[in-house]
Amino acid sequence: MEVLFILLYCFHILFTCTIASDTISINQTIRDGQTIVSAQQAFELGFFSPSNASHNRYLGIWYKQYATGTVVWVANRETPISNKTGELTLNPGGLLVLRDSTTNQIIWSSDASREAGNVVAQLLDDSNFIVFGGEDGQENYIWQSFDHPGNTLMPDMKFGRNLKRGIVTNYTSWKSDNDPSPGPFMICMDFSGYPQIFQKNGDQIQYRLGSWNGLAYSGNTNNHPNPIYRNWFYMDEIETSAVYVLRNKSVLARLTLSPQGNMAQWNWINTQGWFLYSSLTTDSCERYALCGVHGICDIQQSPNCGCLRGFTPKRPDQWEIADWMSGCQREIPLDCGVGEGFRKYSFVKLPDTQQSWFDRNMSLDQCKMKCTNECNCTAYATLNIEQGTGCLLWYNELIDMRTLPNNGQDIYIRMSAAALEKDKRSSRSKKKVLAIILPVGLGSVILLGLCVIIIIMKKKKKKKKKKKVKEQGRSDSIVQKDGVDVPLFNQSTLSVATNNFSTDNKLGEGGFGPVYKILALQEALEEMRQKQTPKGWLEHSEISL
Ligand SMILES: *[C@@H]1O[C@H](CO)[C@@H](O)[C@H](O)[C@H]1NC(C)=O
Ligand SMILES: *[C@@H]1O[C@H](CO)[C@@H](O)[C@H](O)[C@H]1NC(C)=O
Ligand SMILES: *[C@@H]1O[C@H](CO)[C@@H](O)[C@H](O)[C@H]1NC(C)=O
Ligand SMILES: *[C@@H]1O[C@H](CO)[C@@H](O)[C@H](O)[C@H]1NC(C)=O
Ligand SMILES: *[C@@H]1O[C@H](CO)[C@@H](O)[C@H](O)[C@H]1NC(C)=O
Ligand SMILES: *[C@@H]1O[C@H](CO)[C@@H](O)[C@H](O)[C@H]1NC(C)=O
Ligand SMILES: *[C@@H]1O[C@H](CO)[C@@H](O)[C@H](O)[C@H]1NC(C)=O
Repeated sequence: MEVLFILLYCFHILFTCTIASDTISINQTIRDGQTIVSAQQAFELGFFSPSNASHNRYLGIWYKQYATGTVVWVANRETPISNKTGELTLNPGGLLVLRDSTTNQIIWSSDASREAGNVVAQLLDDSNFIVFGGEDGQENYIWQSFDHPGNTLMPDMKFGRNLKRGIVTNYTSWKSDNDPSPGPFMICMDFSGYPQIFQKNGDQIQYRLGSWNGLAYSGNTNNHPNPIYRNWFYMDEIETSAVYVLRNKSVLARLTLSPQGNMAQWNWINTQGWFLYSSLTTDSCERYALCGVHGICDIQQSPNCGCLRGFTPKRPDQWEIADWMSGCQREIPLDCGVGEGFRKYSFVKLPDTQQSWFDRNMSLDQCKMKCTNECNCTAYATLNIEQGTGCLLWYNELIDMRTLPNNGQDIYIRMSAAALEKDKRSSRSKKKVLAIILPVGLGSVILLGLCVIIIIMKKKKKKKKKKKVKEQGRSDSIVQKDGVDVPLFNQSTLSVATNNFSTDNKLGEGGFGPVYKILALQEALEEMRQKQTPKGWLEHSEISL
């Protein structure tokens, strides 16, 4: 009995020791050289120098068991301690205070506390360093490092805004690999319209990841399902946050913003180290507002910039020398007159939403109605393409659009009555072309087929050799295949059919003949489909992300 009791007691001590090693309790001090380690040994908190050359000491969190030493968070980014004299203490009110013990000067402190009580600071296995009252639980934390990110976005780390806590998070690059103080680059969420994510260089917007559309961010260029992580977006009255979660929790992954302004996703591979999994800024169309207002960027076009259909360059002289900033203007201006309506543009990255308005419950029809009734409304789109609900309205000149052939969205842009009338006429003539071409094409195929069959029959009669019949049969099928594909649209009919397609609908130039053909057919089919199903989003909700 006694032995059992002693055994249990030892267990208890062992248990409290391992627990204690990931926590700091009231009035406990962690000095330079001492560390605390998360329960599963994933992360360690203590003092470090970013390079051998520097004697500067920082309080930080780094990977422990794997990727040892990779720093994910720094407390005193701007105020290093020059000697190994730093010490971190948890106050009875839950305030973390970092002091230089030689001067007793406060170097850094957390920014939230409460009345004295039972509080504890704990380093978790997701790298979050959290201060909470023992009886409150971690959900009602007092302070956490995840709310004060540096240059690293960790899985499960919420990024955005929490009005109740008064927190707006953003990521800033380090000045250099040796200096964790904030550099010029920042990833932040913009809340002026429908929330969207920017990368900034100082005050300048560099890239725009865009807004959440229910499946992805509207600027996502990659539409492949990601095997490593999953993006998520949460929005209610209090909280708006973006987060990414790992599909397999045993994978090590982090997202960083480098001193040069490159946002990159890294995965840890034991044999290789940190492996660059993906990089946000991949092509020139990602540059914010490259093509100016009402311009559209197409990476497969040369030059990349074009005007939206129905718009022409504001300054053709500048446009010609690849200075697209001036953007495009309407061929036919809006006058808020009768008959104004909307033209649908598909497979695009939705424009900047800084001057937008949104409602999460409206249908696309209600959305159209609202936009129609407000003369200053320039475009509308579905907010959530996954559910096909919600309404997003723009009130400004549209900027920072690009074509995304694989996972772009639909947007409906306000057009004058005259422009829409032009559309109708051209679609009628397009239909005419198709109406002529289709029967003629099919007819010639059938005729061709018949001729071939007759020839075969004749040959069969003349020479009754089985081998030859087999060969003819093969070439026969090739003729039929080609017949459906090629004779239907030759170059001249194509140019008629695609005449009204602006550059934004083109997928390729010159050699990409087949791309035009498919588009011509798609448009015709789409028109037919639209008559049956007025809800445009249905067609694109199949896009898998
Ligand atoms: C922490 O230190 C303060 C000041 O020295 C003291 O008043 C308080 O009782 C201490 N609290 C605990 C839990 O040790
Ligand atoms: C820093 O010093 C350690 C040990 O002296 C060495 O292994 C490491 O390569 C050095 N790092 C740099 C960046 O010089
Ligand atoms: C750091 O330590 C060095 C020598 O140990 C000393 O000369 C220097 O004054 C210290 N610096 C500070 C800021 O305490
Ligand atoms: C970035 O975050 C800091 C502190 O959290 C905040 O003061 C600042 O306004 C934010 N900047 C932007 C552009 O969101
Ligand atoms: C997660 O990854 C680990 C190591 O890569 C692997 O052993 C495990 O089977 C994976 N788990 C799942 C559910 O895929
Ligand atoms: C709007 O939809 C949300 C869920 O998406 C729901 O919670 C809310 O009650 C709805 N609001 C109205 C006014 O219907
Ligand atoms: C647009 O016009 C409506 C009135 O039609 C007005 O209430 C609204 O404030 C205007 N919005 C903007 C962004 O100008």
